Amino acid sequence: MPHIIDGKAVSAMIKKELKGKVKELKEQGISICLAVIQVGNDPASSVYVGNKKKACAYIGIDSLAYELPEETTQEELLSLVGELNRKEEVNGILVQLPLPGHIDENAVIRAIDPKKDVDGFHPQSVGALCIGQPGFVSCTPAGIIQLLKRSGIEIAGKECVVVGRSNIVGKPMALLLLRENGTVTVAHSRTKELEEVTKRADILIVAVGKPKMITREFVKEGAVVIDVGIHRNEDNKLCGDVDFDSVAPVCSAITPVPGGVGPMTIAMLMHNCVEAGILQ
Ligand code: GUN
Repeated sequence: MPHIIDGKAVSAMIKKELKGKVKELKEQGISICLAVIQVGNDPASSVYVGNKKKACAYIGIDSLAYELPEETTQEELLSLVGELNRKEEVNGILVQLPLPGHIDENAVIRAIDPKKDVDGFHPQSVGALCIGQPGFVSCTPAGIIQLLKRSGIEIAGKECVVVGRSNIVGKPMALLLLRENGTVTVAHSRTKELEEVTKRADILIVAVGKPKMITREFVKEGAVVIDVGIHRNEDNKLCGDVDFDSVAPVCSAITPVPGGVGPMTIAMLMHNCVEAGILQ
């Protein structure tokens, strides 16, 4: 059987490290505050926002929660973001996505001060990542790099294949692997002979949003497989984009769902908040 990469344990370790760092900062008179904005009451978003607040409380980061009604206008939301940009005591601003259809997500993301962009979604943050300059990095791909490094998996010189090209995961993932000196291919829904492409991977990262799409035919013997997907199947059980039972016997290491990539996102958000506090 392959090594099962335990994201829950790695996330717990990172959060514990951050808790120590936040305590030290407090002793120097520096406190850290994250503002979280949710518009409407999408149940999944409410769970994510609740988990973020809980993680803040554990680490010792203050959190301000703004729960705005579904009918909030774009102007009102932009005005709140502007107010939080100006508030010195607020170090990080997170607007939970998706936003209701009448609000332009890109306009809201652009309005966040890049110094407080702990999600790493602002065009300035993404541009900085692209050209190797300092800036916040999107939490899920940053968490995957931590998972690989802390599992002792070398990236430099490896064939890395990312399946999926979203702004939040696929694209920043490719840039981060490149920064770690991987040889990177990005595959997507229009890629021809996907199996041939994914079979080249020493490290295969899957973020396609399709339950159990990646079976053993897509995976080279001994590859490391990272599954970003999370879905509920017919029996209400969680599963990923990778068919775990089919792929596990052929790979050398794999992330489970749940308990793989998922817990890393919040750990890296907390990391970004601490960095924001230190830099401001
Ligand atoms: N919705 C789903 N994932 C995320 C995330 O990482 N950040 C924000 N802001 N919204 C999300």
